[in-house]
Amino acid sequence: MTSPTVLHTPPEYPESQRPDFVQRLHRPEPLMKARELAFLMFDKRDLVRAERFWQDFGLITVSRTADRLVMRAAGGAPAVLVATRARRSRYVGAAFVAPEGADLPHIARQLGGQAVPPDQVPGGGRAISLRDPDGHRVWLIQGSARVDPLPVREPITNQINTLTQTPRVNATVRPPIAPARIGRLGHVVMQTTDFRLMADWYMRVLGIIPTDVQYLPDGQPLLTFFRLDLGGTPSDHHTVVIAGGLEPKYEHSAWEVEDIDALGQGQQVLKANGHRHMWGIGRHVLGSQLFDYWYDPDGFEFEHYTDGDVFTADHETRYVPFAPGSIWAWGDDVPPTMLPKKSPALLWKVFKLWRSGRLDLPRLIQSGKVLDTPARPWL
Ligand SMILES: [Fe+2]
Repeated sequence: MTSPTVLHTPPEYPESQRPDFVQRLHRPEPLMKARELAFLMFDKRDLVRAERFWQDFGLITVSRTADRLVMRAAGGAPAVLVATRARRSRYVGAAFVAPEGADLPHIARQLGGQAVPPDQVPGGGRAISLRDPDGHRVWLIQGSARVDPLPVREPITNQINTLTQTPRVNATVRPPIAPARIGRLGHVVMQTTDFRLMADWYMRVLGIIPTDVQYLPDGQPLLTFFRLDLGGTPSDHHTVVIAGGLEPKYEHSAWEVEDIDALGQGQQVLKANGHRHMWGIGRHVLGSQLFDYWYDPDGFEFEHYTDGDVFTADHETRYVPFAPGSIWAWGDDVPPTMLPKKSPALLWKVFKLWRSGRLDLPRLIQSGKVLDTPARPWL
Protein backbone atom coordinates (compact mmCIF):
# COMPACT_ATOMS: atom_id res chain seq x y z
CA MET A 1 0.00 0.00 0.00
CA THR A 2 1.35 3.44 -0.86
CA SER A 3 1.21 6.42 1.51
CA PRO A 4 -1.73 8.80 1.16
CA THR A 5 -0.78 11.77 -0.99
CA VAL A 6 -1.23 14.16 1.97
CA LEU A 7 1.93 12.71 3.51
CA HIS A 8 4.97 14.48 2.21
CA THR A 9 8.24 15.95 3.40
CA PRO A 10 8.49 19.70 2.70
CA PRO A 11 10.97 20.61 -0.07
CA GLU A 12 14.24 22.32 0.79
CA TYR A 13 16.61 24.19 -1.51
CA PRO A 14 20.31 24.94 -1.02
CA GLU A 15 20.83 28.71 -1.29
CA SER A 16 22.57 28.36 -4.68
CA GLN A 17 19.61 26.43 -6.10
CA ARG A 18 16.68 28.25 -4.52
CA PRO A 19 13.75 29.18 -6.79
CA ASP A 20 14.02 32.66 -8.36
CA PHE A 21 11.17 34.17 -6.33
CA VAL A 22 12.73 33.17 -2.99
CA GLN A 23 14.63 36.13 -1.49
CA ARG A 24 18.09 35.50 -0.13
CA LEU A 25 18.59 36.42 3.53
CA HIS A 26 21.41 38.96 3.38
CA ARG A 27 24.28 38.23 5.82
CA PRO A 28 25.96 41.35 7.25
CA GLU A 29 29.66 41.49 8.19
CA PRO A 30 29.86 40.14 11.77
CA LEU A 31 31.41 42.09 14.65
CA MET A 32 32.56 38.78 16.17
CA LYS A 33 31.67 35.09 16.19
CA ALA A 34 30.03 33.86 19.41
CA ARG A 35 31.37 30.56 20.76
CA GLU A 36 28.47 29.41 22.89
CA LEU A 37 25.03 30.29 24.21
CA ALA A 38 25.99 30.64 27.89
CA PHE A 39 22.80 31.23 29.89
CA LEU A 40 19.33 32.74 29.82
CA MET A 41 18.08 35.46 32.16
CA PHE A 42 14.54 35.64 33.55
CA ASP A 43 12.70 37.82 36.03
CA LYS A 44 10.52 35.65 38.29
CA ARG A 45 7.83 36.56 40.80
CA ASP A 46 8.41 33.38 42.78
CA LEU A 47 11.95 31.99 42.78
CA VAL A 48 10.98 28.96 44.89
CA ARG A 49 8.34 27.78 42.41
CA ALA A 50 10.65 28.52 39.51
CA GLU A 51 13.45 26.50 41.11
CA ARG A 52 11.13 23.55 41.80
CA PHE A 53 10.11 23.35 38.13
CA TRP A 54 13.66 23.73 36.83
CA GLN A 55 14.93 21.05 39.22
CA ASP A 56 12.21 18.64 38.07
CA PHE A 57 13.10 19.64 34.50
CA GLY A 58 16.71 18.53 35.14
CA LEU A 59 18.73 21.58 36.18
CA ILE A 60 20.84 21.88 39.33
CA THR A 61 20.85 24.80 41.76
CA VAL A 62 24.18 26.59 42.09
CA SER A 63 22.93 29.27 44.49
CA ARG A 64 19.69 30.83 45.64
CA THR A 65 19.28 33.97 47.71
CA ALA A 66 16.05 35.86 48.31
CA ASP A 67 16.66 37.79 45.10
CA ARG A 68 18.68 35.63 42.73
CA LEU A 69 18.68 32.02 41.57
CA VAL A 70 21.53 30.54 39.53
CA MET A 71 21.23 27.10 37.97
CA ARG A 72 23.64 24.92 36.04
CA ALA A 73 23.47 21.81 33.89
CA ALA A 74 25.79 18.79 33.93
CA GLY A 75 28.23 20.33 31.46
CA GLY A 76 31.14 22.67 32.16
CA ALA A 77 29.19 25.96 32.00
CA PRO A 78 29.15 27.71 35.41
CA ALA A 79 25.49 28.66 34.84
CA VAL A 80 22.79 28.08 32.24
CA LEU A 81 19.99 30.04 33.85
CA VAL A 82 19.91 33.14 36.06
CA ALA A 83 16.61 34.28 37.58
CA THR A 84 16.06 37.51 39.49
CA ARG A 85 13.10 38.13 41.79
CA ALA A 86 10.77 40.77 40.35
CA ARG A 87 7.14 41.87 40.47
CA ARG A 88 6.42 40.45 37.02
CA SER A 89 7.79 37.23 35.52
CA ARG A 90 9.39 37.81 32.12
CA TYR A 91 12.15 36.72 29.82
CA VAL A 92 15.02 39.19 30.13
CA GLY A 93 17.62 37.96 27.65
CA ALA A 94 20.55 35.71 26.82
CA ALA A 95 24.30 35.63 27.44
CA PHE A 96 26.81 34.40 24.87
CA VAL A 97 30.47 33.50 25.17
CA ALA A 98 32.61 35.81 23.01
CA PRO A 99 35.97 34.73 21.58
CA GLU A 100 39.03 35.97 23.44
CA GLY A 101 40.06 38.16 20.52
CA ALA A 102 36.81 40.14 20.35
CA ASP A 103 37.07 43.79 21.37
CA LEU A 104 34.06 43.97 23.69
CA PRO A 105 34.54 47.61 24.82
CA HIS A 106 34.60 48.62 21.14
CA ILE A 107 31.41 46.62 20.43
CA ALA A 108 29.78 48.23 23.48
CA ARG A 109 30.67 51.70 22.17
CA GLN A 110 29.37 50.88 18.68
CA LEU A 111 26.05 49.48 19.90
CA GLY A 112 25.43 51.62 22.97
CA GLY A 113 26.16 48.89 25.51
CA GLN A 114 27.69 48.99 28.99
CA ALA A 115 30.13 46.92 31.00
CA VAL A 116 28.54 44.43 33.41
CA PRO A 117 29.84 44.48 37.03
CA PRO A 118 32.10 41.40 37.34
CA ASP A 119 30.25 40.04 40.39
CA GLN A 120 27.11 39.74 38.27
CA VAL A 121 28.73 37.32 35.81
CA PRO A 122 28.46 33.64 36.86
CA GLY A 123 31.93 32.15 36.60
CA GLY A 124 33.47 35.63 36.62
CA GLY A 125 35.10 37.27 33.64
CA ARG A 126 34.39 40.39 31.65
CA ALA A 127 31.01 41.11 30.07
CA ILE A 128 29.14 43.81 28.21
CA SER A 129 25.39 44.25 28.13
CA LEU A 130 23.58 45.19 24.92
CA ARG A 131 19.93 45.57 23.95
CA ASP A 132 18.61 43.86 20.84
CA PRO A 133 16.09 45.78 18.67
CA ASP A 134 13.19 44.31 20.67
CA GLY A 135 14.74 45.38 23.99
CA HIS A 136 15.94 41.94 25.12
CA ARG A 137 19.23 42.00 27.04
CA VAL A 138 22.21 40.38 25.31
CA TRP A 139 25.41 39.82 27.28
CA LEU A 140 28.73 39.03 25.65
CA ILE A 141 31.18 37.37 28.05
CA GLN A 142 34.91 36.64 28.00
CA GLY A 143 37.16 34.85 30.47
CA SER A 144 34.57 33.01 32.58
CA ALA A 145 35.88 30.01 34.53
CA ARG A 146 34.47 26.60 33.61
CA VAL A 147 33.29 24.13 36.25
CA ASP A 148 33.88 20.39 36.51
CA PRO A 149 31.22 18.51 34.53
CA LEU A 150 28.91 16.27 36.54
CA PRO A 151 28.67 12.59 35.65
CA VAL A 152 26.13 11.54 33.04
CA ARG A 153 25.22 7.94 32.31
CA GLU A 154 26.37 6.17 29.20
CA PRO A 155 23.90 6.59 26.33
CA ILE A 156 21.56 3.66 25.90
CA THR A 157 20.69 4.46 22.31
CA ASN A 158 24.14 3.72 20.92
CA GLN A 159 23.19 0.11 21.45
CA ILE A 160 19.80 0.24 19.82
CA ASN A 161 18.71 -3.01 18.21
CA THR A 162 17.16 -2.64 14.76
CA LEU A 163 15.93 -4.97 12.05
CA THR A 164 19.38 -5.21 10.55
CA GLN A 165 21.71 -4.66 13.53
CA THR A 166 21.57 -6.13 17.06
CA PRO A 167 24.54 -4.70 18.94
CA ARG A 168 22.83 -5.14 22.34
CA VAL A 169 23.16 -8.78 23.36
CA ASN A 170 22.59 -10.22 26.85
CA ALA A 171 21.79 -6.70 28.08
CA THR A 172 18.53 -4.90 28.92
CA VAL A 173 17.26 -1.31 28.73
CA ARG A 174 16.40 -0.06 32.21
CA PRO A 175 16.73 3.72 32.30
CA PRO A 176 16.45 5.14 35.81
CA ILE A 177 13.22 6.92 36.72
CA ALA A 178 14.72 10.32 37.44
CA PRO A 179 14.56 13.87 36.11
CA ALA A 180 16.15 14.04 32.68
CA ARG A 181 19.74 15.07 33.22
CA ILE A 182 20.33 18.22 31.18
CA GLY A 183 23.83 18.55 29.76
CA ARG A 184 23.58 22.03 28.38
CA LEU A 185 21.48 24.89 27.07
CA GLY A 186 20.80 24.32 23.37
CA HIS A 187 18.84 27.18 21.83
CA VAL A 188 16.51 30.11 22.34
CA VAL A 189 13.64 31.08 20.03
CA MET A 190 12.30 34.63 19.82
CA GLN A 191 9.28 36.02 18.03
CA THR A 192 9.52 39.56 16.66
CA THR A 193 7.44 42.03 14.69
CA ASP A 194 10.45 43.04 12.58
CA PHE A 195 12.10 39.85 11.37
CA ARG A 196 14.68 41.50 9.10
CA LEU A 197 15.88 43.95 11.74
CA MET A 198 16.24 41.30 14.45
CA ALA A 199 17.83 38.74 12.12
CA ASP A 200 20.31 41.32 10.86
CA TRP A 201 21.21 42.45 14.40
CA TYR A 202 21.85 38.94 15.71
CA MET A 203 23.86 37.94 12.62
CA ARG A 204 25.98 41.09 12.96
CA VAL A 205 26.57 40.83 16.72
CA LEU A 206 27.00 37.05 17.04
CA GLY A 207 28.23 36.09 13.57
CA ILE A 208 25.58 33.38 13.41
CA ILE A 209 24.87 31.49 10.19
CA PRO A 210 21.39 30.87 8.76
CA THR A 211 20.98 27.08 8.59
CA ASP A 212 17.35 26.95 7.41
CA VAL A 213 15.42 29.99 6.17
CA GLN A 214 11.65 29.59 5.99
CA TYR A 215 9.89 31.78 3.44
CA LEU A 216 6.33 32.92 2.74
CA PRO A 217 4.49 32.11 -0.52
CA ASP A 218 5.81 35.40 -2.01
CA GLY A 219 9.41 34.37 -1.23
CA GLN A 220 10.07 36.68 1.75
CA PRO A 221 11.95 35.11 4.67
CA LEU A 222 9.79 34.88 7.81
CA LEU A 223 11.63 32.56 10.19
CA THR A 224 15.25 31.46 10.40
CA PHE A 225 17.22 28.86 12.35
CA PHE A 226 20.75 30.17 13.04
CA ARG A 227 23.80 28.22 14.15
CA LEU A 228 27.08 29.36 15.66
CA ASP A 229 30.02 29.78 13.30
CA LEU A 230 32.62 27.48 14.86
CA GLY A 231 34.47 26.92 11.58
CA GLY A 232 35.23 23.23 11.14
CA THR A 233 33.86 22.30 14.57
CA PRO A 234 30.27 21.07 14.23
CA SER A 235 27.65 23.24 15.93
CA ASP A 236 23.95 22.67 16.59
CA HIS A 237 21.57 23.16 13.66
CA HIS A 238 20.22 26.12 15.61
CA THR A 239 21.31 28.09 18.66
CA VAL A 240 19.14 31.14 17.95
CA VAL A 241 15.81 31.14 16.09
CA ILE A 242 14.06 34.35 15.02
CA ALA A 243 10.46 34.18 13.87
CA GLY A 244 8.32 36.97 12.41
CA GLY A 245 5.03 37.38 14.30
CA LEU A 246 2.58 39.74 15.92
CA GLU A 247 4.57 40.66 19.03
CA PRO A 248 8.13 40.58 20.35
CA LYS A 249 8.38 37.70 22.79
CA TYR A 250 10.33 34.74 24.10
CA GLU A 251 8.98 31.70 22.27
CA HIS A 252 10.86 28.87 24.01
CA SER A 253 14.27 27.59 24.98
CA ALA A 254 15.65 24.08 24.51
CA TRP A 255 17.85 21.97 26.76
CA GLU A 256 19.81 18.92 25.67
CA VAL A 257 19.28 15.75 27.70
CA GLU A 258 21.30 12.52 27.71
CA ASP A 259 19.27 10.52 25.19
CA ILE A 260 15.79 9.39 24.20
CA ASP A 261 15.32 7.42 27.43
CA ALA A 262 16.10 10.51 29.49
CA LEU A 263 13.48 12.34 27.40
CA GLY A 264 10.88 9.63 28.13
CA GLN A 265 11.66 9.14 31.81
CA GLY A 266 11.98 12.88 32.26
CA GLN A 267 8.43 13.22 30.93
CA GLN A 268 7.18 10.74 33.54
CA VAL A 269 8.88 12.64 36.36
CA LEU A 270 7.51 16.02 35.25
CA LYS A 271 3.99 14.58 34.89
CA ALA A 272 4.20 12.85 38.27
CA ASN A 273 5.20 16.15 39.87
CA GLY A 274 2.16 17.91 38.43
CA HIS A 275 3.80 20.12 35.81
CA ARG A 276 1.95 21.18 32.67
CA HIS A 277 2.88 19.30 29.52
CA MET A 278 2.74 21.12 26.20
CA TRP A 279 3.81 18.94 23.27
CA GLY A 280 5.71 15.76 22.51
CA ILE A 281 7.37 13.41 22.30
CA GLY A 282 7.98 13.90 18.60
CA ARG A 283 10.75 14.54 16.09
CA HIS A 284 11.34 17.93 14.48
CA VAL A 285 12.03 18.31 10.77
CA LEU A 286 14.38 21.32 10.87
CA GLY A 287 17.10 20.28 13.31
CA SER A 288 15.82 16.67 13.45
CA GLN A 289 15.84 16.56 17.24
CA LEU A 290 13.49 14.47 19.36
CA PHE A 291 11.50 16.92 21.50
CA ASP A 292 9.25 17.22 24.52
CA TYR A 293 7.85 20.65 25.50
CA TRP A 294 6.78 21.83 28.96
CA TYR A 295 5.31 24.95 30.54
CA ASP A 296 7.02 26.41 33.59
CA PRO A 297 4.76 27.77 36.38
CA ASP A 298 4.47 31.13 34.57
CA GLY A 299 3.55 29.57 31.22
CA PHE A 300 6.98 29.97 29.59
CA GLU A 301 7.88 27.09 27.27
CA PHE A 302 10.86 24.84 27.90
CA GLU A 303 11.91 22.05 25.53
CA HIS A 304 13.82 18.88 26.33
CA TYR A 305 15.62 17.54 23.28
CA THR A 306 18.10 14.94 22.11
CA ASP A 307 19.61 13.66 18.87
CA GLY A 308 19.76 16.97 16.97
CA ASP A 309 21.66 17.75 13.76
CA VAL A 310 25.07 19.44 13.81
CA PHE A 311 26.80 21.23 10.92
CA THR A 312 30.15 22.79 10.22
CA ALA A 313 30.33 26.39 8.99
CA ASP A 314 30.68 25.37 5.33
CA HIS A 315 27.27 23.67 5.16
CA GLU A 316 25.16 25.67 2.71
CA THR A 317 22.06 27.54 3.91
CA ARG A 318 18.77 25.84 3.01
CA TYR A 319 15.48 27.55 2.06
CA VAL A 320 12.24 25.85 3.10
CA PRO A 321 8.61 26.99 2.62
CA PHE A 322 7.05 28.21 5.87
CA ALA A 323 4.30 25.80 6.95
CA PRO A 324 3.17 24.28 10.24
CA GLY A 325 3.85 20.83 8.75
CA SER A 326 7.55 21.65 8.47
CA ILE A 327 7.84 21.98 12.26
CA TRP A 328 7.69 18.30 13.04
CA ALA A 329 8.14 14.94 11.31
CA TRP A 330 6.04 12.78 13.59
CA GLY A 331 4.28 12.96 16.94
CA ASP A 332 1.08 14.60 18.12
CA ASP A 333 -0.41 17.61 16.36
CA VAL A 334 1.02 21.06 17.15
CA PRO A 335 -0.85 22.29 20.24
CA PRO A 336 -3.15 25.24 19.47
CA THR A 337 -1.23 27.34 22.02
CA MET A 338 1.79 27.28 19.70
CA LEU A 339 -0.17 29.05 16.95
CA PRO A 340 -1.82 32.49 17.20
CA LYS A 341 -5.38 32.13 18.49
CA LYS A 342 -8.10 34.15 16.74
CA SER A 343 -9.37 36.30 19.58
CA PRO A 344 -9.96 39.92 20.61
CA ALA A 345 -6.40 39.86 22.02
CA LEU A 346 -5.04 38.96 18.58
CA LEU A 347 -7.05 41.76 16.97
CA TRP A 348 -5.66 44.15 19.56
CA LYS A 349 -2.10 43.07 18.70
CA VAL A 350 -2.80 43.64 15.00
CA PHE A 351 -4.28 47.07 15.80
CA LYS A 352 -1.23 48.04 17.89
CA LEU A 353 1.07 47.01 15.04
CA TRP A 354 -0.97 49.02 12.55
CA ARG A 355 -0.98 52.07 14.86
CA SER A 356 2.79 51.92 15.25
CA GLY A 357 3.22 51.72 11.47
CA ARG A 358 4.84 48.28 11.67
CA LEU A 359 2.04 46.22 10.15
CA ASP A 360 2.98 44.54 6.88
CA LEU A 361 -0.51 43.52 5.77
CA PRO A 362 0.43 41.28 2.80
CA ARG A 363 2.87 39.43 5.08
CA LEU A 364 0.25 39.04 7.77
CA ILE A 365 -2.34 37.70 5.29
CA GLN A 366 0.14 35.21 3.83
CA SER A 367 1.30 33.86 7.17
CA GLY A 368 -2.33 33.70 8.38
CA LYS A 369 -3.30 31.62 5.35
CA VAL A 370 -0.37 29.27 5.82
CA LEU A 371 -1.10 28.83 9.52
CA ASP A 372 -4.79 28.16 8.74
CA THR A 373 -3.84 25.14 6.62
CA PRO A 374 -3.94 22.09 8.89
CA ALA A 375 -0.55 20.40 8.84
CA ARG A 376 -1.81 16.93 9.71
CA PRO A 377 -5.56 16.83 8.98
CA TRP A 378 -5.76 13.26 10.28
CA LEU A 379 -4.58 14.17 13.82
FE1 LIG B 1 13.20 24.27 19.93
